[in-house]
Amino acid sequence: MRGASRVEVVQPSATLRISSMAKKLAKEGKDVVDMSVGEPDFVTPQHIVDAAIKALKEGKVFYTPTRGIPELLDAIAEKLRKENGIPAESKNVIVAAGAKFAIFNAIMSLIDSGDEVILLDPSWVSYEACVLMAGGKVVWVPHSEGFEDAPIEDYVNPKTKMIIVNSPSNPLGVVYSKEFMKKVRDLAIDKNLFVLSDEIYEKIIFDGKHISLAALDGMFERTITINGFSKTYSMTGWRLGYAAAPEWIIERMERLQSHSISHPSSFVQYAGVAALKGDQSFVMKMVEEFRARKDMIAKKLKELGIEFAPPKGAFYIFMNVNRDSQEFCEEFLKKEYVALTPGSAFGKAYSTWVRLSYATSRERIAEFLKRLEIFI
Ligand SMILES: Cc1ncc(COP(=O)(O)O)c(C=O)c1O
Repeated sequence: MRGASRVEVVQPSATLRISSMAKKLAKEGKDVVDMSVGEPDFVTPQHIVDAAIKALKEGKVFYTPTRGIPELLDAIAEKLRKENGIPAESKNVIVAAGAKFAIFNAIMSLIDSGDEVILLDPSWVSYEACVLMAGGKVVWVPHSEGFEDAPIEDYVNPKTKMIIVNSPSNPLGVVYSKEFMKKVRDLAIDKNLFVLSDEIYEKIIFDGKHISLAALDGMFERTITINGFSKTYSMTGWRLGYAAAPEWIIERMERLQSHSISHPSSFVQYAGVAALKGDQSFVMKMVEEFRARKDMIAKKLKELGIEFAPPKGAFYIFMNVNRDSQEFCEEFLKKEYVALTPGSAFGKAYSTWVRLSYATSRERIAEFLKRLEIFI
């Protein structure tokens, strides 16, 4: 018997593989410092939890509309207009079980066999997998020096259909410059391309201002804005994300979603409304904590003479270890019980770089820095 070939084009997520190796060592009793996780280490704010419990108690336990409950669609559209300058209305929004499914759905709904999709190298692991499963071709574009720009204009050809931008970026932690965003806009309009703008880390920025591509002149009609609740409100396990786009794209995504996941859990959507409409002080506190951790690591890396991309947002630092990243990570895990993610998981050009996530306590970060100094 043989399974479908569409799954054979992708490998299990490399980031998950390293975390499961780390978990196995921890289970064996080793004191593992896990710097590979991609989720905030805070508990979801209580008022959001309470809203989910209230919805459950009120019997909000049945199917919802495929695109999501009207209250949540309205709250998201309002947020996009007010905070991001994106002219979205409720009809331009679809909620999904995590931003990841919104991305999968958008790519499945827009990319045909043979279409080329531009990915900045390095990029978050699942974009490539989604494009490949859709039958598309990934065109990797390495960053220019300093990581805040990339020569995408050299890689666009008649087959190019989409550019994916993720600012702040996972795994780089960079926030792209205004000039770069403008270049993406000009190119997308000139060559009639879609842009998928993954803004999941928009609130976690230490330096610089977040720019939403769909807010730039002429971009709303060609941009799929992706966002969610996982990182901003520490809600990874709740599985709630969304896409905003022109109505015709949302209609296609609604069709795909109606025959697959239907919609995110009913009571989770009510929690989403509470997250968007409630007290936002949690977000500020979380960002300040991330900033302190980032400063702590950056200081030590500089002392050790390790090169890294400018950490301006998200909760990752991408650093050059000047040797094969896979080997480095395996050896570091085996010898010092520290889990990092090899740069090779995120693209082609940065095989001597590794990603570290500082979504862990300052005590554990201090321990990591100690072990790093010993190891190198
Ligand atoms: C860049 C990026 N986009 C999307 C996601 C998926 O987020 P969600 O938990 O909402 O599916 C992640 C999660 O790691 C991410 O890093």
